[in-house]
Amino acid sequence: MREQSGIPKALLISKDPADISLLEEAFKACSPATGIIRAGDVKQGIESLLGDKVDIIFIDYALSTVNIDFLIELQKRNIITPVVVLIEKGSEIQAAEAIKKGAYDYIIKNSAYTDSLTGILERIQGMSLLNTGMEEEQQQQSLLFKQIYRSQKWWQHIIDAITDYIFVIDQNYRILRTNKAFAGLFGKEPADIIMRPYFELFNLTSPHEWCVAPHDESGFSTRSVERKINETVYLISCFPISYDRHQAAVYIMKDITETRRLKDQVYHLDKLSSLGILTSGVAHEINNPLTGIIGYTEMLLMKNKDETARKYLSNIYESSLRCKRIVENMLAFSRQKPAYKNPENINEIIDRTIELHEYWLKSTNIEIVRNYEKVPYIPMDQQQMQQIILNLLINAEQAISETDRCGRIEFATSLDKSSNRIVITVSDNGKGISRDILPKIFDPFFTTKPVNKGTGLGLSIAHGIVAELGGTIEADSEPGRGTTFVIRLPVTG
Ligand SMILES: Nc1ncnc2c1ncn2[C@@H]1O[C@H](COP(=O)(O)OP(=O)(O)OP(=O)(O)O)[C@@H](O)[C@H]1O
Ligand SMILES: [Mg+2]
Repeated sequence: MREQSGIPKALLISKDPADISLLEEAFKACSPATGIIRAGDVKQGIESLLGDKVDIIFIDYALSTVNIDFLIELQKRNIITPVVVLIEKGSEIQAAEAIKKGAYDYIIKNSAYTDSLTGILERIQGMSLLNTGMEEEQQQQSLLFKQIYRSQKWWQHIIDAITDYIFVIDQNYRILRTNKAFAGLFGKEPADIIMRPYFELFNLTSPHEWCVAPHDESGFSTRSVERKINETVYLISCFPISYDRHQAAVYIMKDITETRRLKDQVYHLDKLSSLGILTSGVAHEINNPLTGIIGYTEMLLMKNKDETARKYLSNIYESSLRCKRIVENMLAFSRQKPAYKNPENINEIIDRTIELHEYWLKSTNIEIVRNYEKVPYIPMDQQQMQQIILNLLINAEQAISETDRCGRIEFATSLDKSSNRIVITVSDNGKGISRDILPKIFDPFFTTKPVNKGTGLGLSIAHGIVAELGGTIEADSEPGRGTTFVIRLPVTG
């Protein structure tokens, strides 16, 4: 046992002198050098511990509940000296209770004290608990554990604070560690998914389906791929690590849906701008000869009386007018004409546009519904805005003409105070737009109409003008039931 003097010490707490003398005998037999301190009750025992450090404590269970209080008291004082409880034969339940509360072992009184004591002392020495300086070492160890625990918690907090999805897998693709964000993807806590193969969580049939972390003899390799999972695009990166001489991999999944959308938009705008430059050049080149063709055809039509020749000339005239319309649209698309912006009221512009088109609307029997709210004036080129509304109106009319129902087009305006935007809605009950073509309708030259009916430039022109005003235009459609266009324009000035 320990001690500066090298003499081990034991504390015996019992009221029964027989116990004490029997234990002393046993000590003499198995550890003759042991110094023995006696205490008649728990209070005395604690007092003697304050003065003297001991290597082992024996306490009589006959001291009953105080016995348990004694163990609690030792824990409070951080005294880790092993406590052995002396019990009567047949009181093993109490012995178990004491061990649960922190006692090291028990000895049944009046039995072979020496044998039991020898075993206990050997075990304690085996655990090195009685060696000099062990208490300090143990305290240091527990301090170290606390530090490790704290730093582990600290790192867990850090990875839990990261909104990217992080998890670490072993060679069998089982999750060793993860953060809250990743577990949250499945509505779980990190502890719930530890040791689950990650690919099962994603309902993949094999870990290779993503082709992210191929694992061969040389281990995992660094790789990044983009994958779409339930409408969300992720950049999934895998980084090999090794721990405890095992191969593992850290996965980081980043939600890049928005970035991808913006990239596509930039690409689209880029395409539009180069197309704009190209079309404006071509349109100008065609415009001049076209004016000549139209003028001379008109002249010939006036002068010529021959029916067959007039028929051919009319065809030329009609086709040239159509070309002129296309060229005008192309120029509007590339917006070579300067915009004249003045404060305008959108309700009035819609009314004027409907008026312009009244004749057609009457002949097609389409009901026009106006649902205007009072909206502020905003600077815009009224001709450009009229062009947008007219195109939406004609598109709606054409979509209705392809159904047998009574047509209805509703124009609604309102002010969205939260975003400070004017919202213009144009809804029809026409044939609608199928899901697959909906993303393409704002593309220049995209049309589903016959050659003489549409150039496919109306909506792309509208898109460009609205974007220039700092606004947005979107379409929503229920195929077979109708379409709604929503324009949002910022209130400026
Ligand atoms: N209200 C609508 N209902 C159904 N389809 C529509 C509607 N508005 C637009 N579309 C679809 O979007 C396509 C593109 O429309 P856009 O106005 O750009 O060109 P267009 O009408 O075909 O030709 P243009 O306007 O140049 O004469 C149309 O061809 C049509 O398929
Ligand atoms: Mg159109």
